Amino acid sequence: MKNIAFAIFLISSIIILAANTFIDKNNFKINKNTPVAEILQQLGETAPNHIQNEINTDAVAIGKNIVLNGLSSKTAEGGRRQSKHFVCTSCHNVQREDPTLSISDPEARLQYAQANGLPFLQGTTLYGAVNRESWYNGDYAKKYDAEKIKPAQTNFREAIQLCAVECAQGRELKEWELESVLAYLWTLQLKMDDLKLSDADLQRIENGINDNSQTTDLVQFIKSKYQQAAPATFNEKPDNLQKGYGLKGDADKGKLIYDLGCQHCHENGRYSMFVLDDSKLTMRFMRRNFTKYTRYSTYHVTSYGYTTNGKRQYMPNYTLERMSNQQIEDLRAYFERESK
Ligand code: HEC
Ligand code: HEC
Repeated sequence: MKNIAFAIFLISSIIILAANTFIDKNNFKINKNTPVAEILQQLGETAPNHIQNEINTDAVAIGKNIVLNGLSSKTAEGGRRQSKHFVCTSCHNVQREDPTLSISDPEARLQYAQANGLPFLQGTTLYGAVNRESWYNGDYAKKYDAEKIKPAQTNFREAIQLCAVECAQGRELKEWELESVLAYLWTLQLKMDDLKLSDADLQRIENGINDNSQTTDLVQFIKSKYQQAAPATFNEKPDNLQKGYGLKGDADKGKLIYDLGCQHCHENGRYSMFVLDDSKLTMRFMRRNFTKYTRYSTYHVTSYGYTTNGKRQYMPNYTLERMSNQQIEDLRAYFERESK
């Protein structure tokens, strides 16, 4: 008797359990913190090879210490430096930095940076980096040897490792360090709220997941709302430095670029031995050199960056997606105004 009762109990539990899974699968709800990557998987996309299925909070803390402080230790406090010269946030934000995620527009980004108190930098933000499908795109192929950059373009772990060594000029990350940086970067993945979809569109996606209809259209629609790759076009300095890019600069915007951009690294020699400040002397120096063929010309350093042989501290160039020619002229107008 007992056995039969138990068998009935067991069978009914299984039925309830099965029913629940069935209901769950068909009653998927999206909220503003639902990861975009999870929605894509619900719609049938395969997970990227850098997926981490469990969030390991210890690893997140270790990774965060490496990215924000440049320090590595298994307790996530203090530790060994990854690079003598830089931390990841010398060149990358860890917050969203574009008002519209599907467009890379440096003018809109500068405004957004000002409104949100962010620096204006050469590297693309690490926010949403795990959601991209390729890295070091466009003209970056010209900057690094093919055998170094090829693996990094299609494999996110390799992309992190390339930057740790080549951009940050530091040591290679150990496996536990790399997995920890990756764990932290997964906490910076895009959420549905970032895509600014209408309620009707969210409903359409929810319905699509729940009844498995038209999922490829929905995947395409979602992917049209953010960039799967950060585009990169290298700039050239103008043929005639006096004429410049032939655009009229706006000194107020130039000040913003100087304060949020250049000063992020050059103020008090934070990441560079070349110190920039707001003194008239500095302004005149920058104005004079702007149009000269010297290593101090802003036309030169924005387009090509700055490196010296032997010394591993260097300045990354700005791609046109990170600083427009108009913005370079805005800087020139700023130095001219402040020199008077
Ligand atoms: C000196 C500046 C600098 C430092 C320091 C730096 N990076 Fe970068 N990083 C760049 C630049 C420039 C790129 C070029 C591609 C881009 O971001 O648009 C890049 C690219 C990347 C990419 C690929 C982004 C993409 O979408 O193409 C990742 C990931 C990355 N860096 C991670 C890191 C991590 C992690 C660290 C710290 C260990 C770090 N970087 C340190 C400048 C830097
Ligand atoms: C990500 C950090 C970073 C940013 C942002 C940055 N620089 Fe640099 N810059 C450097 C580093 C590092 C060097 C290498 C020189 C050194 O440290 O000795 C350098 C070098 C230079 C040099 C050459 C100095 C020399 O000794 O010949 C100039 C000029 C310069 N930067 C101007 C600028 C201007 C203008 C901006 C803003 C548009 C800017 N930098 C933004 C890091 C940066």
